Amino acid sequence: MSLRQVGICLVGVGRAGAVHARNYAFNLRDTRIVAIVDANLNAAKACAGETGAEFYYSDHRDALRVKEVDAVCISTPTFTHARIAIDAAESGKHVFCEKPMALTLKEADEMISAAKRQHVILQIGFMRRFSPEFQAAKRQLAEGAIGKLTLIKSTGRGPGLPPTWACDPRTSIGMLAEVNSHDFDTARWLMESEVERLYAEAEALAVPELKERYEGFYDRSVVVLRFRNKALGVIDGACPAKYGYDARVEILGTEGVMLVGERNNQAVIICTKQRGAYSSSFPSWRDRFREGYLEEDRHFADCIANDKEPLASGEDGRAVLELTLAATKSFKTGEPITLPLE
Ligand SMILES: NC(=O)c1ccc[n+]([C@@H]2O[C@H](COP(=O)([O-])OP(=O)(O)OC[C@H]3O[C@@H](n4cnc5c(N)ncnc54)[C@H](O)[C@@H]3O)[C@@H](O)[C@H]2O)c1
Repeated sequence: MSLRQVGICLVGVGRAGAVHARNYAFNLRDTRIVAIVDANLNAAKACAGETGAEFYYSDHRDALRVKEVDAVCISTPTFTHARIAIDAAESGKHVFCEKPMALTLKEADEMISAAKRQHVILQIGFMRRFSPEFQAAKRQLAEGAIGKLTLIKSTGRGPGLPPTWACDPRTSIGMLAEVNSHDFDTARWLMESEVERLYAEAEALAVPELKERYEGFYDRSVVVLRFRNKALGVIDGACPAKYGYDARVEILGTEGVMLVGERNNQAVIICTKQRGAYSSSFPSWRDRFREGYLEEDRHFADCIANDKEPLASGEDGRAVLELTLAATKSFKTGEPITLPLE
């Protein structure tokens, strides 16, 4: 427990930023929001009013001069992450950065180096790692509940289209990054092995007309993984999926199978044409991972107060980015891709 509250500067108060704002301002005792930054100054001002933040700005560099800011939470579009994270680290501020960490591996490497040079924490927003059912799964896998792990299937589907910048692969990398970064992270984390080869297919099937507007747009994808420890994996991604936010994982071991995300009233099960066996679904990722977001924010403050290594590190963010870029290269070339990328 810290002696004083960790002073947070929130950069970007859109969809994800609103979740972190609520946590840091109202749901955690050891944090307070000192400053809000958003390119839209009115949005920053409104959020400062709601959260009691003393300062608000439209440029993150102004907030980095505020002494009471210990740490920066970056919830801006992906293409802005690296600049803000590096500036924050170089100002001696700890950094929480939403996934995907950056657009390129060069940017990711610069973010990691800046944090190391300045001895500040760099945590990436992989909230599934902090969600109770994923924590329980991790623990039970380590205890050998299903024997040796042989195959993982991870489904990640978003309900509606994300903001414009996220639909455009030039500013977001594409849905494999925007939605399925979490599945890549889950696969590495639960299987405890890195991917050595993958093959991907992607297509715009739900909203094909968006291909005209955003070059390289796709809304459905499948990625086949081969891990270094010889285990296999499949990730399936879709956005928009319309019916809700769906995050499910199945792990097949030599002694059994484990299903994660299928708890009562959390699964989406459609059975027959008479609408039998329907189950409730989560309207959004905010509801599905409410506890995960809270616990990742609590963990960030705890790492700062107690000088701990974050559970979702810059290196984890980089590894996931590399898988995302490799999968993108695979579906574009029609070839399997061997890791690491050149
Ligand atoms: N972990 C999750 O489950 C999850 C869920 C949603 C979004 N995200 C991630 O969060 C990030 C933000 O996504 P979003 O959906 O909230 O986006 P958004 O478009 O809803 O919000 C982005 C906000 O950032 C502001 N902004 C843009 N450029 C800025 C800059 N240079 N400086 C300051 N403010 C700036 C915009 O005005 C906007 O208010 C992305 O990296 C996204 O992938 C993560």
